[in-house]
Amino acid sequence: MGAQQVAERFAELYGAEPEGVWAAPGRVNLIGEHTDYNDGFVMPFALPHQAVAAVSRRDDGVLRLHSEDVEGGVVELRLDALAPGTDRKWTAYPAGVVWALREAGHEVTGADVHLSSTVPTGAGLSSSAALEVVIALALNDLYDLGLQRWKLARLCQRAENVYVGAPTGIMDQTASACCEQGHALFLDTRDLSQQQIPFDLVAEGLRLLVVDTQVKHAHSGGEYGKRRAGCEKGAALLGVDALRDIPYDGLDEALARLGDEEEVIRLVRHVVTEDERVERTVALLRAGDTRAIGPVLTEGHASLRDDFRISCPELDLVVDTALAAGALGARMTGGGFGGSAIVLAEAADVDTLTKAVEEAFAAADFKTPRIFEAVPSPGARRLS
Ligand code: GLA
Repeated sequence: MGAQQVAERFAELYGAEPEGVWAAPGRVNLIGEHTDYNDGFVMPFALPHQAVAAVSRRDDGVLRLHSEDVEGGVVELRLDALAPGTDRKWTAYPAGVVWALREAGHEVTGADVHLSSTVPTGAGLSSSAALEVVIALALNDLYDLGLQRWKLARLCQRAENVYVGAPTGIMDQTASACCEQGHALFLDTRDLSQQQIPFDLVAEGLRLLVVDTQVKHAHSGGEYGKRRAGCEKGAALLGVDALRDIPYDGLDEALARLGDEEEVIRLVRHVVTEDERVERTVALLRAGDTRAIGPVLTEGHASLRDDFRISCPELDLVVDTALAAGALGARMTGGGFGGSAIVLAEAADVDTLTKAVEEAFAAADFKTPRIFEAVPSPGARRLS
């Protein structure tokens, strides 16, 4: 939905024009998976799919929320009654951001919000981060809070971790808040330092396909938290603050010190090699050798499948089929256990690859996947 339509719907719902309209995108992660809660490196870029919010301030301590994408009317909440863990619905994301802003001491006295999002939910494409960031940016502007983008991302992460109760890292919110069109974001999640890496696939005759397997994932479910706890155990056993501190060339020695901790060994190996893959990808892109990142993506998938153990038959089928049909590289993206895979391909091969994946899914009796091309798009911004 465009800004105009969202504003018109706001006016119908609330009886007045909104003070403004903002947008925040979903993301795909090119490389750097399950590294963000290990203080490591990630490299997402923004999708054209986005959450759009029309918002006005209120001064009576009331938050009114409405979404075009969810059945039901306007939800009315009192700001002083917002409390972590009390809301299990979509409203927890925007309400959690208001809660996090207020908890951090920022004066937000209420808001009327109408939302509409094109980011697929449960597809590993950060639909929840898009919702959080669009609200954070709108309130930052309207209440003149003066918070920088990285700080807004931190507050959104707090909303997700504490208010919603999903123990996620900082990648998704930072991607939505900070990505730039035509670039991938090389982010160091330890200090949130960022570099925008030019990533114009179309100019090079390449395409990046997103294959949403339609297998729904859920982060508040236990597996994500278990991996995170396993990584923290690894860091503790190795005497470092985070697995980021294990250098790639010291990996074998570190693994040897873990003795017979077989599961921790696998987790540590994934994280340390994945950080190296991000750095290798950045170096290749900087050198203009975009095609050469394909095998790095594929290596990343093998590591997520075999060491981190968060793939699933549908994701593996996308990767195997795409590679057999001539893709340059492919891997799952996002949290895992379903969601989406990405496929890097020559533009000329897109139709063949798409058909091959669709046929393989039909033959395996899997749900029909949703396949689209991802173009690095702008991060969060005010539309009107
Ligand atoms: C989810 C989380 C992120 C990150 C990825 C895995 O998307 O929200 O913080 O951990 O999984 O890389």
